[in-house]
Amino acid sequence: MLATSPASYSFSSATQHLKRSVMRDLLKHAVDPNIISLAGGLPANEALPLTQLQACLDEVLHRDGAKALQYGPPYAPLKAWLADYMRGRGVQCDAENIFITNGNQHGLQILSRLFVNEGDTAVIEEAVFTGVQQITAGAGAHILTIPTDTSTGADMDALEAAFAQHPQMAVLIPDFHNPLGVSLSAEKRQRAAELAGKYGVPLVEDDPYSALRFSGAMLPPIKAYDTSGFVFYLGSFSKMLAPALRLGWMIVPDELLAKITVIRESLDLESSTLTQRTVAEFLQRGYLVPHLDQMNRLNQERCAALLAALDTHLGDIASWTLPDGGLFTWVTLPENVNTWDMLPEAIANKVVYIPGAAFAVNGGATNAMRLNFSALPAEKFDEAISRLKQVINNYLK
Ligand SMILES: Cc1ncc(COP(=O)(O)O)c(C=O)c1O
Repeated sequence: MLATSPASYSFSSATQHLKRSVMRDLLKHAVDPNIISLAGGLPANEALPLTQLQACLDEVLHRDGAKALQYGPPYAPLKAWLADYMRGRGVQCDAENIFITNGNQHGLQILSRLFVNEGDTAVIEEAVFTGVQQITAGAGAHILTIPTDTSTGADMDALEAAFAQHPQMAVLIPDFHNPLGVSLSAEKRQRAAELAGKYGVPLVEDDPYSALRFSGAMLPPIKAYDTSGFVFYLGSFSKMLAPALRLGWMIVPDELLAKITVIRESLDLESSTLTQRTVAEFLQRGYLVPHLDQMNRLNQERCAALLAALDTHLGDIASWTLPDGGLFTWVTLPENVNTWDMLPEAIANKVVYIPGAAFAVNGGATNAMRLNFSALPAEKFDEAISRLKQVINNYLK
């Protein structure tokens, strides 16, 4: 313990609106090894490309020596690879437009600093990843929410109505939404890009999950339809490679590069040279495609096992989204089942999930829950959902 006398601190306004993520608090409950956790949002440990990353790290240290451990500009071969990857997804961009970040939360934070003042207005979905709430409501913005259809994604008429109120920023998650598991249809992607241009609203496309597709064809990002420069694409290696890399990228128009660089330098100077070189080596060796194939096959098998267990145990009382990839499905239970109130009993019955209310910006979603399928062996899901059903039964009476 630090020996200090009681101090009276005065805090910045930036701290006033930030709320601690309930999700992180909830995950603390899942430490008992007998608890089956459906609460996570991580790739499976056994899906992480440990051997390949080790080989790439060794090669980088051997080949580049001290350069790999120094401060350094964004690593050009990584930017070149990413520009090529994004062009392959239909986005017109050059390596100069690739801005390396420490992952999508970092990109969201940088863009929020660029566009949102306290008291401004931001548009987000009614149920959304808490990190998106942190950089909008948490930045003191007034929030407009739009509903999300569980088959086709965010409601574009509602987005247009919100844009007509001249917000300063909007955020959408195009693929395998957190928490809903749904992807935006191609038509909606095109319309979202057109609306951003028509109303001049910076639209942030937060895309950590698109590479985690295990069925159906990959769709172009919203950015591929952007002709106005108002769509800001954020990509991350967290879910497609490993969260601990803390590495991602942003596509930035030429005229904003200087401004974004200054904001970024004020936060943390730059991304790790060592990590960028290691990931570039991984990509240049062609390890990504076989890695994704293997991980997505595993996720598909696990998702199928979860959906089968839901069918067996909750088929007559619940509905859920049918993901084509990503990490989550969203389950809706009868209205009288309050998943927040039920959580302590679920934990006592050795199963844990994230209650829908943890993602609900305006309240609601009290009878919903987010379930993760990536982090458990397939044979665990039947037991997990059977335990959940025992607890739900108490609420159905
Ligand atoms: C929708 C969404 N955006 C951003 C993030 C943060 O990702 P990163 O690890 O790239 O910062 C997550 C992480 O779960 C997420 O689900």
